[in-house]
Amino acid sequence: MTTTFGNTDLKTSPLVYGCMGGAGAFGKQEEQDSIEALREAFNCGINFFDTAEAYGSGYSEQLLKRALGNKRSEMVISSKVARDNLAPADIITACDRSLRNLGTDVIDIYMLHWPNRDVPLAESIGALKTLKDAGKIRWYGVSNFGRHDIDEATDLGEISVNQLPYHLFFRAIEFEVLPKCEAAGVPIMCYSSLMQGLLAGKYKSLAEFPVNRARTRMFDHRKWAEATHTEEGAEAAGQTLLDELWALVDQTGLSMEDLAIGWLKSRPAVGGVIVGTRNGAQSRALKKLMDVSLDPSVLEALTAASELLKVELGCDIDMWGKNRTR
Ligand SMILES: NC(=O)c1ccc[n+]([C@@H]2O[C@H](COP(=O)([O-])OP(=O)(O)OC[C@H]3O[C@@H](n4cnc5c(N)ncnc54)[C@H](OP(=O)(O)O)[C@@H]3O)[C@@H](O)[C@H]2O)c1
Repeated sequence: MTTTFGNTDLKTSPLVYGCMGGAGAFGKQEEQDSIEALREAFNCGINFFDTAEAYGSGYSEQLLKRALGNKRSEMVISSKVARDNLAPADIITACDRSLRNLGTDVIDIYMLHWPNRDVPLAESIGALKTLKDAGKIRWYGVSNFGRHDIDEATDLGEISVNQLPYHLFFRAIEFEVLPKCEAAGVPIMCYSSLMQGLLAGKYKSLAEFPVNRARTRMFDHRKWAEATHTEEGAEAAGQTLLDELWALVDQTGLSMEDLAIGWLKSRPAVGGVIVGTRNGAQSRALKKLMDVSLDPSVLEALTAASELLKVELGCDIDMWGKNRTR
């Protein structure tokens, strides 16, 4: 099942396959597993694939070509230009590089990966318009654009997406960014929908979470060596939420992933829910999430259970607390 993505003419599946983990973002990764993960995701009915030049310096884009190059006409591909490449000439060069990596003539949606204060946004958007006029990209958008940046972007161009961190453990966008996107008709692609695996039903306690993933603002920087922010986090509220999610799994018979993805699909302005996997078996499990739809009572319970954590973490949408957004 596909629907039209926002203001574009693209027909996309509700789940988007996220290619970052396949390029080794979460540790050692066998290439064959990544290729199988991509093919099995496609076999589940996912036609929308999200990558970026930053994922393995182009390797993720190359993998996508290798795994699914022969399906290109049936796919919608989004990619992103890295934050350091937002000067107009660099955007043009980066796009050409991504096109070669992907083995395609056109990228369906091309995004600015993160804001960059050193380059006037008008110049970056101007380069995106040039690429669109040249037929190298179909639509363009942004990622990690906060309340001020999204206003500026929508004033400058026809923004087709804002890709943002959004899941039950991180609802920061709801304070200001989501309402702005909704009002401007800019669909949100949610990332880290499974909180990098915490919402994949593998962990009973936050303490079990892999140390290299416990870097987000929810985790106390004094306890987790790899957290580079300076916040004390909200681990007690996070653990309470995790406990309540497990209780809901028991009560409803649904899986943790059903709850996580079903909740996101019900939220306003969400145009696509990105999920990443590491191998074919994990991708095959995405099939049952394609049309998951939760009862209103379950949705209400999830919203209520995650409210305290939402309030404690507040409105800073940079999930890693690096002050990159505004
Ligand atoms: N725009 C941005 O700045 C940005 C930032 C981050 C991500 N993203 C996008 O969002 C995508 C996904 O986000 P994410 O990578 O943060 O992670 P995610 O989708 O929240 O979680 C992915 C992890 O969930 C686990 N998982 C998935 N399916 C599973 C299954 N069936 N059984 C068990 N575990 C399962 C795997 O953990 P294990 O590794 O433990 O197996 C996998 O690595 C990325 O690939 C990328 O496209 C964008």
